Amino acid sequence: MKLENKNTKMRQFAEDLFVQELDALREEDKKEVKPQNWNLSPKAVKKFIMGGQASGVEISQKYMGDERLVEIAIATLLTDSALLLVGEPGTAKSWLSENLCAAICGDAKKVIQGTAGTIEEHLKYSWNYALLIANGPNMDSLIKSPIYNAMETGTIARFEELSRCVTEIQDAMISILSEKNIAIPELNTQVYAQKGFSIIATANTRDMGIHDMSSALKRRFNTVYLPLPKSIDDEVEIVTKRAKNIAHTYQIQADIPAQELIKRVVTIFRELRQGHDIDKKVKFNSMEQPLSTAEAISVITGSMAMSACFGSGQVNEKNLAISLHTTLIKNNEEDSIVWVEYLRQMNKRNDDWKSLHAQCLDLCS
Ligand SMILES: Nc1ncnc2c1ncn2[C@@H]1O[C@H](COP(=O)(O)OP(=O)(O)O)[C@@H](O)[C@H]1O
Ligand SMILES: [Mg+2]
Repeated sequence: MKLENKNTKMRQFAEDLFVQELDALREEDKKEVKPQNWNLSPKAVKKFIMGGQASGVEISQKYMGDERLVEIAIATLLTDSALLLVGEPGTAKSWLSENLCAAICGDAKKVIQGTAGTIEEHLKYSWNYALLIANGPNMDSLIKSPIYNAMETGTIARFEELSRCVTEIQDAMISILSEKNIAIPELNTQVYAQKGFSIIATANTRDMGIHDMSSALKRRFNTVYLPLPKSIDDEVEIVTKRAKNIAHTYQIQADIPAQELIKRVVTIFRELRQGHDIDKKVKFNSMEQPLSTAEAISVITGSMAMSACFGSGQVNEKNLAISLHTTLIKNNEEDSIVWVEYLRQMNKRNDDWKSLHAQCLDLCS
C-alpha cells in the first residue's frame, strides 16, 4: 500500500500545522480587543496553547502543565520585557516558544539558533557582498536578521539556546533589548522596534554554567521556568499525546502502544532521572544522557516505526527494548553500565516487568 502523502514538508511550523485551529480562534476572537500587532487576544492565545473549543473546532492542548506559567509567558509579551524560557532539555521550551509565536504573530519562523559560533551579524544584519561591491552599501544589499525583521514588523523573534552564546553576543542582546533599535552606521540610519516586538529566548539549565548570563541581561528578561512533569500520569499523558501527533505527522503505520507499556517506559525514565526507584528503596547512579520527556517520546515513536516497518504494527516489548537501548545508551560506556545495573536491580520488581527487562538485558550482552 502506498502511503498517503498530502504534505511534502518534513517539518511544518506551528502556524501551518495548526492553521485550522488558528482560523477558528481568529473567527471567535473577532470582537475582542487585541494588543497592537497581535493576531489574537491574550485569552485566545492561552486557549491555543492550553486547548479547548473555538467556533466548533477542537483546539488541541499544546503545552501540558501549569496554565499559570503560560499566563505569565503571554502577559510578559505584552510588556517591554522579553521572555526567557528556562528548564532541563526536553521540557517543551522550544515547542512553547514556537506555538506562542504562531498564535500571536502567525509566524514562528524568525529564529536564531544560539551556538558558540553565533556572531553579532546573526543578531543584527549582514551584507550581500555581490550587491555591496556592485552598488555600495544600501538597503538592497542589507540582509536583515530575524530580530531586525521582527523589530520592523512589530512581531516576535525566537532565540534558541541563548546561554550557549559567548558573552559578547549576550552583551549585544542587552543593547537590542534595552534600546529597542538596531543602528546601521554604514547607512547612517537605524531601525526602530514597532509595538508588538519581543523576543522569546530559551536556555537549558544544563548549559547555564558555560557562559553565565550577566545580571544585566537577566534583568531584560522575564524568566519562566518550565519544570519536568510532576507525576507519572502527567508524563504518560504528554508522551501518549505527542507520540500520537508525531506518528500521525510522519504517517507511521503503527498503533500507539498500550498505556501500560508507555507507563513502564515513563517509569524507567523517571527512576533513572531521579536516581532511585518509585518506592525510594533502590538507588542508582545517574546517567550522562538527558532523560527528559522528549527522549521518552522518541522511545515510543522509535518503537512504533520499528513495528510499522518490520513487525505487525502493534508495538511489542522487543520493539520497546531496542528503542530504549538506542535512546539511552548511544555510545556511552558508563551509561551502559548504569543501565545494566538498573535492569539487574529492578528485575525483581514484579512479573509484568520481567519480559521487558529481559529483552533489554539481552541487548546489552
Ligand atoms: N509539558 C509538555 N507539554 C507538551 N509537550 C511536551 C512537554 N514536555 C515535553 N514535551 C514535548 O517534548 C518535545 C521536546 O520539546 P522541546 O520543546 O524540543 O524541548 P526543549 O526545547 O525544552 O529542549 C516536544 O515534542 C514537546 O511537545
Ligand atoms: Mg529547545
